[in-house]
Amino acid sequence: MGVQIVDTGSYVPETVRTNLQMQEICPDCDPEWIEQRTGIRERRIVGANESTCDLAVAAAQQVMAKAGVYAKDIDLLIVGTFTPDYHCPSTACLVQDRLGLDAPAFDISAACSGFMYAVTTGAQYVATGNAKMALVIGADSNSRIVDQKDRTIAPLFGDGAGAVLLSAGTLQQGFKSYHLASDGSGAGMLDRPCGGSKNPITAEGIASRQHYLQMDGRNVFKWAVRTVVESIEVVLESAQLSVHDVSLFALHQANQRIIDSVADKLNVSRDRFYNNVHKYGNTSAASIPLVLDEANSEGKIDRGDTILMCGFGAGLTWGTSLFVW
Ligand code: COA
Repeated sequence: MGVQIVDTGSYVPETVRTNLQMQEICPDCDPEWIEQRTGIRERRIVGANESTCDLAVAAAQQVMAKAGVYAKDIDLLIVGTFTPDYHCPSTACLVQDRLGLDAPAFDISAACSGFMYAVTTGAQYVATGNAKMALVIGADSNSRIVDQKDRTIAPLFGDGAGAVLLSAGTLQQGFKSYHLASDGSGAGMLDRPCGGSKNPITAEGIASRQHYLQMDGRNVFKWAVRTVVESIEVVLESAQLSVHDVSLFALHQANQRIIDSVADKLNVSRDRFYNNVHKYGNTSAASIPLVLDEANSEGKIDRGDTILMCGFGAGLTWGTSLFVW
């Protein structure tokens, strides 16, 4: 059975933090350096009383309203996030309650690949007839887990959410191929050492900032470019398609230089990649559905188009797919 993306929705918090405002919080942050090295000009930041659940609910409400889908119609909810409201319960359960769904609900934790893992999982339920209407959300409040005084990480990340509704489609629609992967040997390249069962939160852990995200930026960069190119080649080969068959490249928005390097290595014109990293920074699991929703709203996606989606991040995890809209 084919699977279709019925519609898309998204939400970003109201507060904009420009590179100049970033420098007010983190004096070592050079606004021009940030834009030159990452392409990021500003990012959105959750309000004092907002959390990942609020972002997810707002994105979900938007896609439901656009698609004319009611709570009673949804029989599966998956939330990709690595900044849940709580360690327990899952954010998906909080979202389920707020939306009034009568559906199983669970989180998927795959960091910046969270949406790729979630949307491919949701599609399995729909393709096997085990769900009629799956709501898949990617949502992250990265500003809550990033040390705003750390110039090597703080300017890169922002907050947001994106959502899609999946239902049965025509035989031509859905995933032509996908490739999900993991490599835990690289766990230390991007991690939050303190706050889990291994190293519960202690005063020492907080004093040494170990409860915040830590990153080996330079090696993550090199790994990302290499891995994304390889993964795209895998999905193209397995679908027996070429880059010319792709209507739109929707890559995880971590750094404009990563995306441009991937485009150059694939010999694809950079303007075939949809980018919004300049407005939102890296929103982790939200970034691909934010791209999909913006491109869709701007009329840049038509039924029958082949969309290449690719997420990559902590774990290490990555996931790439060719999806016929
Ligand atoms: N403002 C000013 N200077 C900064 C800075 C900032 N915000 N952040 C770092 N610098 C400095 C560094 O301290 C370094 O100074 P030094 O040469 O005196 O040591 C210099 O700029 C160059 O740093 P470097 O780390 O080599 O820069 P880079 O070109 O590798 O860019 C990243 C750094 C983090 C932007 C880049 O490595 C990157 O994007 N990595 C991938 C990160 C990512 O996407 N992670 C998420 C994956 S899902």
